[in-house]
Amino acid sequence: MELNGKVAFVTGAASGIGHGIAKRFVEAGGRVAIADLNLDAAKAAAAELGGEKDAIAVAADVSDEEQVNAAVDATAKAFGAVDILVSNAGIQIVHPIEEFPFAQWKKLLAIHLDGAFLTTKACLRYMYPQNSGALIYMGSVHSHEASPLKSAYVTAKHGLLGLTRTMAKEGAKHNVRANIICPGFVMTPLVEKQIPQQAHDLGISEERVVTEVMLGETVDKQFTMVSDVAEVALMLAAFKTNALTGESIIVSHGWHMN
Ligand SMILES: NC(=O)c1ccc[n+]([C@@H]2O[C@H](COP(=O)([O-])OP(=O)(O)OC[C@H]3O[C@@H](n4cnc5c(N)ncnc54)[C@H](O)[C@@H]3O)[C@@H](O)[C@H]2O)c1
Repeated sequence: MELNGKVAFVTGAASGIGHGIAKRFVEAGGRVAIADLNLDAAKAAAAELGGEKDAIAVAADVSDEEQVNAAVDATAKAFGAVDILVSNAGIQIVHPIEEFPFAQWKKLLAIHLDGAFLTTKACLRYMYPQNSGALIYMGSVHSHEASPLKSAYVTAKHGLLGLTRTMAKEGAKHNVRANIICPGFVMTPLVEKQIPQQAHDLGISEERVVTEVMLGETVDKQFTMVSDVAEVALMLAAFKTNALTGESIIVSHGWHMN
């Protein structure tokens, strides 16, 4: 699968899964805007991926409309088009619902859901006139399953499934496809932080959080790797026809099967 110079706007690409996707896209001949809240880390990632010809850093809080529009415009100005959106930026906040601070609930939903809405809207300003585009949302097994303590995250990830399916229908007449990737647990900074926190909240050891809570339902007790998710993102970005749209692809070592 090759990207042949196609331009991708990847959010949350300074770290973890987004970073892995940006790297794989550049390897496949794509050009990438590393959009992140953390501009220093985004600049370092862009430099590592080969510098301005292939990768640029753009600062954006995905929940801020002006910042998102400016970052997408800067991408189009630098590379001449916006062909692929990977709406990936996300956070995790874990509490039992009766203790969930409302401000934290709103913050999580804003990053995942407002972020997906605003980046979609900004990128479509380029995709619809050029009559092509690929929208890729970062869901989770939690787009299909629920876990205790994750009410905001599960709500947001289920919401992204709805946005994906709606965009597949709205985008079709403009030749824009929309799909969602749903990974199982991937060892990134986001997950590393959860292990001690869940051990504390559930009153069990960190080892049991990993083997029972995170990997207990997989077929082989393995973490999904960033590279696994990046490969699926490349396939969705490079797919040549509109046959593959509105789909949820689960990459979870069999934790959840459609
Ligand atoms: N790690 C997993 O196990 C896993 C599993 C399924 C889905 N996901 C999803 O994958 C995505 C990436 O997760 P990750 O594990 O790579 O996390 P990560 O913490 O390694 O990276 C997240 C990146 O998003 C950026 N970010 C956070 N808030 C932002 C904002 N408001 N605007 C712009 N950028 C922002 C951070 O600076 C960081 O660079 C998230 O949507 C997450 O829900 C992760």
